[in-house]
Amino acid sequence: MPSHDSSSSKGLEIQRTFNKITDYYDRMNSLMTLGRHAAWCREVAVRTKVPAGGSMLDVATGTGVIALAALKKYPDSTIYGVDFSERMLSEAASKPGASAVRWQHADANELPFGDESFDAITHGYLLRNVEDVERVLEEQYRVLKPGGRVVILETCPPRGLLRYPVTLGVRVLIPLLGQVVARDRESYAYLQKSTLGFMTPNEVVTILRRVGFASISWRKKFFGTHMIISAQKP
Ligand SMILES: C[S@@+](CC[C@H](N)C(=O)[O-])C[C@H]1O[C@@H](n2cnc3c(N)ncnc32)[C@H](O)[C@@H]1O
Repeated sequence: MPSHDSSSSKGLEIQRTFNKITDYYDRMNSLMTLGRHAAWCREVAVRTKVPAGGSMLDVATGTGVIALAALKKYPDSTIYGVDFSERMLSEAASKPGASAVRWQHADANELPFGDESFDAITHGYLLRNVEDVERVLEEQYRVLKPGGRVVILETCPPRGLLRYPVTLGVRVLIPLLGQVVARDRESYAYLQKSTLGFMTPNEVVTILRRVGFASISWRKKFFGTHMIISAQKP
């Protein structure tokens, strides 16, 4: 049986990659998205519609951009940010205002929370890094309360007229920026491949439906290379 947790070889490789690029993560993200990443994280937070006094879990929180945007939007809620990279978590916890978020080490494959614990779940760029997307979404469905929303920020392969120029741009620019800014072409070559190789919005929607989610909607961003998907647990 294949192993799905962070001790699998893909899990360990991803953990190593993110531990390695922590220092450059926010700067590179901002450059690669021409400054749009922070705005998308705010949009993700808004779409969760966390009720007053509610709770939200940001899985694969990284440097905590979504969790902190959610805290700003819903200051009376309890916000958790979890990740399996210790370095990313300590970077998140060092940001201004971060002490109000509960940062915790956790693997998205096995969330250390009881059933129906959260009013909303968010994640940015998690799914393309996991071995079994369906299992990870099932785990989120489990810890979400009925009526709660999951909001997903992810990359997707560009389609249509822009497909070839955008694909070429991503192939060339991301590893180049990785080399110049982070002096780490290898890690950013991985990010470039996982960006172009991930699923289309419809493929993610099909899995969300299979898991049990309803009221699913999505919109593409940034020349069709990013998507924000939201879904509700009935
Ligand atoms: C590209 S970063 C995204 C960070 C943040 N969500 C954002 O939008 O900037 C991906 C994060 O996912 C985390 N990650 C990947 N697989 C994971 C898993 N199985 N469990 C927990 N965290 C995971 C990595 O450690 C990394 O911090």
